[in-house]
Amino acid sequence: MCGIIAITGRDDAIAQVLAGLKRLEYRGYDSAGVAAVGAHDLEVVKRAGKLEELTRALDDTPLAASTGLGHTRWATHGAPTDRNAHPHLDPSGRVAVIHNGILENYGALKAELGDVRFASDTDSEVAAHLVARELGRLQDGPDLLTAVRRVVAQLEGAFALGFVAVDDPDTVVVAKREAPLIVAHADGVGYCASDVAALIDHTRDVAALLDGQIARIRPDGIDVVDVDGTPVEPHRFHVDWDLDAAEKQGYDHFMLKEIHEQPQAVADTLLDRLTASSDGETPRLHLDELRIDEREFARIDKVFILACGTSLHAGMLGKLAIEHWAGIPVDVEVASEFRYRDPIVDPHTLVIAISQSGETIDTIAAASHGRDQRAPVIALTNVVGSTLAREADGVLYTHAGPEIAVASTKAFTTQIVGCLILGLYLAQVRGRVYASEAEDILTRLQQIPAAIEQTLLLDQEIRELAERYRDTDYTMFIGRHAGLPIAMEGALKLKEISYLHAEAFPAGEMKHGPIALIEPGSLVVALAPAGHVFGKMVSNIQEVRARGASVLAIGTDGSTADLKEHAHHVLTLPEPPHELAGPVLAAIPLQLFAYHVATLRGEDVDQPRNLAKTVTVE
Ligand code: AGP
Repeated sequence: MCGIIAITGRDDAIAQVLAGLKRLEYRGYDSAGVAAVGAHDLEVVKRAGKLEELTRALDDTPLAASTGLGHTRWATHGAPTDRNAHPHLDPSGRVAVIHNGILENYGALKAELGDVRFASDTDSEVAAHLVARELGRLQDGPDLLTAVRRVVAQLEGAFALGFVAVDDPDTVVVAKREAPLIVAHADGVGYCASDVAALIDHTRDVAALLDGQIARIRPDGIDVVDVDGTPVEPHRFHVDWDLDAAEKQGYDHFMLKEIHEQPQAVADTLLDRLTASSDGETPRLHLDELRIDEREFARIDKVFILACGTSLHAGMLGKLAIEHWAGIPVDVEVASEFRYRDPIVDPHTLVIAISQSGETIDTIAAASHGRDQRAPVIALTNVVGSTLAREADGVLYTHAGPEIAVASTKAFTTQIVGCLILGLYLAQVRGRVYASEAEDILTRLQQIPAAIEQTLLLDQEIRELAERYRDTDYTMFIGRHAGLPIAMEGALKLKEISYLHAEAFPAGEMKHGPIALIEPGSLVVALAPAGHVFGKMVSNIQEVRARGASVLAIGTDGSTADLKEHAHHVLTLPEPPHELAGPVLAAIPLQLFAYHVATLRGEDVDQPRNLAKTVTVE
């Protein structure tokens, strides 16, 4: 997720673009840049690092222009460096582009351009090349809108694109598909931005472009058309949010916003995972980065998954996926414990390090310990260019976008999806599944985002449960198989933002001790989807209910009827497209339960006490 902004029609356009980028920084902050449209050329200043790096650079080389673009980046393709920062130029330097999203067919488009020099490793740059080519083909003089329409018709994937061209001055053309884009016109100035937070200082009367819409923004007004050039109407509205609400896009907290971003985050993480093979064979799964020979993974006879906190819970699902599809034994280890014992590691051991930030010191140190024993390391992380990503032999990125809330939500569900992809990848490399099977399973996993959307509809019911149990000072979460990591994640979510005690147990362990805790009034949350452990979960529910516990069961369409005979409350989730994808859905109600309990108790949900978003000290 990145932030884009463009302004045309005021002499301080670049200063206002920079101010707008500050409002968009929460959308991405690993690099940033601006482009100024001069009388004869485009001037671009861009820097890796936080926005202040760009601000310092502009202090040294001020840019004056009445039309400008700005971009703050959350890298998906290409490390966060100066050269990969946006805006990007075509080779002639006469067209600039800024982009939020993923151009799925950028490889094919680059190939079609032939022998052309690309200045960056990004997918976005190709759009500038294509628009420049279309401008050159126009017979009736430079018309940026027509050129952009023709290029948009060639693009696959999600995008909010902004273009300027020296030959069509005082004009910004933007195009929208799946990624947000707001346009506005006030007092002879045209604006566009990824969200209203960057615009409300200038105007509160704005318009949201709809998918497939393209807008030409000029000081005298805005024209909105579809890809064929037919005039269309965007969604016009008045912004009555204050700035803080605008950055949260109307949600009360970043955590709630990020919970609701999960359908898109999972969809983005599933995107672009298959590489069409040159010999016309079935497309194969690939990692995002690979710095060793893929065949090394074929010789792996053991896997260690290392992580902390929520990422550790995702790793427990990674174990199930890798053992299920790849047939390799997997140990999941608390990263902070791994190097203080004598793990048996050798070149045939694979270390998978999972970390949203890619900067958790315990996980980095544990992965390094594995590497010291000559084990190849794969990083599963949400941050391109993070320490863990840079030091690993292979990387699979989640595409959750920046996660601001300390309590991890969308990073967790995308980590689970990442683990499923890794399990299929290792199975494919070891010849345990055919590429066609992997493709079929990936296709089924594409149903997850819609299932998450359906699950989010339970929010009001979950809020009512939170009102009922907001003062419960101890909650027990139980699950089996793929339900156990979710039980553990539910307990962690509740305790870390509401400060109420909660813990999770394998349901099969209840008789070995934990059931002693159950007394009238205890709250037990049971993960009980339809499946091979459902019958035993029903027995566990009966046991605790017989001892006076209140039971909240998380079931699925196939188990809800039985559950309603035994549990006090049943939340019914859609059947998942694969048993191992079920935890992605089961996590959602537990995230929402924790969120509502914490907000009802007046706690600081986004910045809970004693916790930091990234633990960079041991
Ligand atoms: C999860 O809600 C917590 N914020 C915490 O447990 C977190 O998952 C853990 O610190 C690991 O962080 P990482 O994924 O960035 O390595």
